[in-house]
Amino acid sequence: MHDVRAHITTYGCQMNRLDAELLAHALRRDGAQVVADPADANVLLFLTCSVRAHAEDRLFSNVGALKARKRREPDLLVGVLGCTAQQYGDGLRERAPLADVVCGPGRLAEVPALIRQARRGWPAAALDPPRANGGADALAASDADLDRLELARPLGGPSPRHAYVTVMRGCDNFCAYCVVPHVRGPERSRAPSAVLEEVRRLVAEGARQITLLGQAVDKYEAREAGRPWDLADLVAEAAGTRGLARLHFITNHPAAMTERLAAVFRDVPTVCPYLHMPAQAGSDAVLHRMNRGYTVADYEARVAMVRRARPDVAVASDFIVGFPGETEADFEATCGLARRVRFAGGFVFKYSPRPGTFAAQAYRDDVPDAQKRRRHQVLLDLLQRSAAEQNRALVGRTVPVFIEGPSPHPHLDAAKEGGPEGECGEGDADKVQLRGRTPGGRIVVFDGPTHLAGEIVDVQITRAAAVTLFGERCVSTGPAG
Ligand code: SAH
Ligand code: SF4
Ligand code: F3S
Repeated sequence: MHDVRAHITTYGCQMNRLDAELLAHALRRDGAQVVADPADANVLLFLTCSVRAHAEDRLFSNVGALKARKRREPDLLVGVLGCTAQQYGDGLRERAPLADVVCGPGRLAEVPALIRQARRGWPAAALDPPRANGGADALAASDADLDRLELARPLGGPSPRHAYVTVMRGCDNFCAYCVVPHVRGPERSRAPSAVLEEVRRLVAEGARQITLLGQAVDKYEAREAGRPWDLADLVAEAAGTRGLARLHFITNHPAAMTERLAAVFRDVPTVCPYLHMPAQAGSDAVLHRMNRGYTVADYEARVAMVRRARPDVAVASDFIVGFPGETEADFEATCGLARRVRFAGGFVFKYSPRPGTFAAQAYRDDVPDAQKRRRHQVLLDLLQRSAAEQNRALVGRTVPVFIEGPSPHPHLDAAKEGGPEGECGEGDADKVQLRGRTPGGRIVVFDGPTHLAGEIVDVQITRAAAVTLFGERCVSTGPAG
């Protein structure tokens, strides 16, 4: 496929970002080029997300906007891939008539073949078997394709020397609002040997930070080498990889958090003190209607269990405001939970009814948008206040920071506040504002040379804002200045 110049636009969660890497690898392996500028491409691929209407609307408007370009460039191919392709299946082309290729998230290994097919004409589609129809063999075959791609892909993750690794695909939780179980299929755990082989290879290639991915990653369950494996076993084994500095696992489901997994935060030094465990709501009535499988008291007990093991763990959550039937008292209860837990950060989403989900069928979307917006703002402010408080407690401390690269939104004031010139003991020529993360995932911005991307350095925190810490790099050798 030497005449393919593909551009990939990625929406959605970390899983999609990993999928984008696998897709790029599948294309390159097939002789295609993957280009950074869509203007240079003759194949435009969209890796889509269906979790909220907003993500989908953006996709359909972006694809629709290609009409004029398609008229000018009749050979231009458009691919709609991932969760939205799976969500609408055969009906996708009614919403996105410009789509020449349609491919579900489990079938991305087939995209190069689908592109060849699309050059001959429609249909060029591959979708996962609908989960109600069994299809276990087809699923096992496409999982094996994805596993091979993932094992073979080069290190090139979300930032230098940081890599995502799949531990679980799909989801069986069926939270009432959520489309993921419908589009990503049934829950299946990847073989421990495949996960460990991949971690070791990525670390051998230079990865220092690994994030293990699953929608409810703490439900991991496998049997291999005559023994059962849970996530605690897998994490302990992966964390021992020589050369690996930081290991995360996301996303944790509160109902699946165990004492064994909590102990990992205390006992395994490579495991970062960061827990992304979405509460979604702080009212038992709402949690019940959401089908989350835990109460507010359960949630707080799980947080306490992890904090007993590791008191400095940064706990982050997702919340949905305006779920059907959410009263002002329910919302107040959610704010109460946020105040008690003192989250280190979090995401707040306005409820968005998704076709095919239980909530969309059973409940009326009855919280007016103005209320959703207000609750969104109130809860976000509350979360930012507790994050800022925890950030302030770090001022004056020196923390190891994993450097992701140049700051995407340079903070001019921070540059002005940077320490005396030359304090970093290196020439200024290459010095930019860098962005990195503390072990708990807090963002730190400081000045330093770009070649530090992917390294871990000590930074003294000098100032704290709501979401960002500012600091100065500590250089222990040689005199300052
Ligand atoms: N598997 C993860 C979440 C995946 S989706 C978990 O269980 O925590 C990411 C977040 O999107 C969810 O945590 C939820 O807060 C939000 N979300 C999912 N469906 C939504 C919907 N229909 N409307 C609004 N937010 C939604
Ligand atoms: Fe969606 Fe719930 Fe599964 Fe998370 S655990 S992906 S919110 S169904
Ligand atoms: Fe979106 Fe699919 Fe992830 S719906 S949140 S991209 S699993």
